[in-house]
Amino acid sequence: MKALVLAGGSGTRLRPITHTSAKQLVPVANKPVLFYGLEAIAAAGITEIGIVVGDTQAEIEAAVGDGSDLGLQVTYLRQQAPLGLAHAVLIARDYLGEDDFVMYLGDNFIVGGIGDVVGRFTSDRPDAQIMLTQVGDPRQFGVAELDADGRVVGLEEKPAEPKSDLALVGVYLFTPLVHRAVAELKPSWRGELEITDAIQWLIERGHRVESSVISGYWKDTGNVTDMLEVNRLVLESLETRLEGRVDDVSELIGRVVVEPGAVVERSRIVGPAIIGAGARIVDSYVGPFTSIAADCVVDGSEIEYSIVLPRSSISGVSRIEASLIGHDVEVTPAPNTPRAHRLVLGDHSKVQISS
Ligand code: G1P
Repeated sequence: MKALVLAGGSGTRLRPITHTSAKQLVPVANKPVLFYGLEAIAAAGITEIGIVVGDTQAEIEAAVGDGSDLGLQVTYLRQQAPLGLAHAVLIARDYLGEDDFVMYLGDNFIVGGIGDVVGRFTSDRPDAQIMLTQVGDPRQFGVAELDADGRVVGLEEKPAEPKSDLALVGVYLFTPLVHRAVAELKPSWRGELEITDAIQWLIERGHRVESSVISGYWKDTGNVTDMLEVNRLVLESLETRLEGRVDDVSELIGRVVVEPGAVVERSRIVGPAIIGAGARIVDSYVGPFTSIAADCVVDGSEIEYSIVLPRSSISGVSRIEASLIGHDVEVTPAPNTPRAHRLVLGDHSKVQISS
């Protein structure tokens, strides 16, 4: 069995963070979302992985390399344009050959891994297997309709009037039969070859499509609140690890990770929180559910329930909370007079300023 991991796409819903970074590399507890997926695949015993990449190929390759660190053999498959999930299967046709495969969307986060579903698929071997989860706004997803026995009777991509609140999670298991479905697809209203339509094709022709409903799922639906929440969820199971330098007057309370080369001076950190490699926390307070990425500086500031991407600095600012701060950002206090805010904000930024 192989895995096909989709790491193309432009991530419009997480702007401005994804203006300059691949959405699959947005960090959760200082680790790119994509890596949780790759680790779940490795843990399910799959080693051959094709990663479908687009414009952000260089960035994805720089992060994942040949996959050997994760015990994987990675092959990169270039998709010239983001023409849909089923199009990714189409271009991976030769790579996949006659193997069964799990298709994993690199921007999806699934708590608890995929070991169970892969196990069930290999023992039952239906024609396809999907995962579903209850969501608040099904219109942003592929939506399944189930009959009274819980069998999937129909699927619809981004329906205006969803028939249920069960969304397709971005993990699908296929036999090579899916290639026949994909070959017959026509582009949808959004101009993409939809994997949802390929599965619908299988259902309509009487092939067996199994489903399971899961909880513990997250996707980048553009909501920073959701991202902070998934970061919280992952930090909940953090185990204390002190590999950096913490001075005697600093206080670390609860589960805190200080990665190698990080420095904590005259500061108080209340976990769960993670301080990335090479970061400096000086004269500051870092509160629960905060991920400070590598090489950041937090100086004379207070921050909690936030995510800060690499190489950003926050100096003399109190207090930041429920915030998502991109990489190489500088946050500083404004001078007292005149009482005015001076801002340099990227397109699609969102700021809340107390006046
Ligand atoms: C894709 C699928 C959709 C599925 C979702 C899960 O949506 O088309 O059916 O529910 O992934 O992440 P997209 O990311 O293309 O909007």
